[in-house]
Amino acid sequence: MERQLITMPRIGDQAPDFDAVTTTGNIKFSNYIKNSWTIMFSHPADFTPVCTTEMSGFAKEKSFFKKHKTKLIGLSIDSIHSHLAWVDNVRNNTGVYMDFPIIADLDMKVSKLYGMLHPGESTTAAVRAVFFIDPKGTIRLIMYYPLNVGRNMAEIQRVLIALQTSDKNKVAMPLNWEPGEKVIVPPPKNLKEMDAVIANTEYEKVDFYLAKKKLQD
Ligand code: BEZ
Repeated sequence: MERQLITMPRIGDQAPDFDAVTTTGNIKFSNYIKNSWTIMFSHPADFTPVCTTEMSGFAKEKSFFKKHKTKLIGLSIDSIHSHLAWVDNVRNNTGVYMDFPIIADLDMKVSKLYGMLHPGESTTAAVRAVFFIDPKGTIRLIMYYPLNVGRNMAEIQRVLIALQTSDKNKVAMPLNWEPGEKVIVPPPKNLKEMDAVIANTEYEKVDFYLAKKKLQD
């Protein structure tokens, strides 16, 4: 296959804006995400098994995302009629109501804008992408999964809490960090900061450049 040049938003970029038709009405994305954390996720197709587990998985965790002040928005290259029928079908079969907006991206405008089309995987279906966008509209974390492997809800929740905790406390998170565990003290940038880390007896330290601390509850 001839390799095409595809533009993809990157971590640190401003989330590209677009207008879209969704299951909850027409939206302008920049208005939808304003002053809120947002997770936008694509799925390959309505009425398919892995997608149904994932999308209903987001719906089941509604109260978690509300608690963490995070809006949800889904997307696939399907029509609004297909989305509505699928949402109703999942509700009738499982009792799970996927009432967050799902973008009907039939013309692939948003999928292309966000690099969700990976032609080696599929030229007609979006891969399983997840974009974490902060209240200033900056893309902070991106995940891409192929068509045949579902995402991990625990990891989606973990990284959302990690991003929010990092912003609030100006710290970083080590390998396999879980909420409640110690966090990484930012490495010192000058001798004074280095001496402060060395002198701190409360930090768990490997050395001055790798120190962990407990956050106050
Ligand atoms: C699924 O969600 O099950 C699926 C969708 C597209 C391709 C393969 C699997």
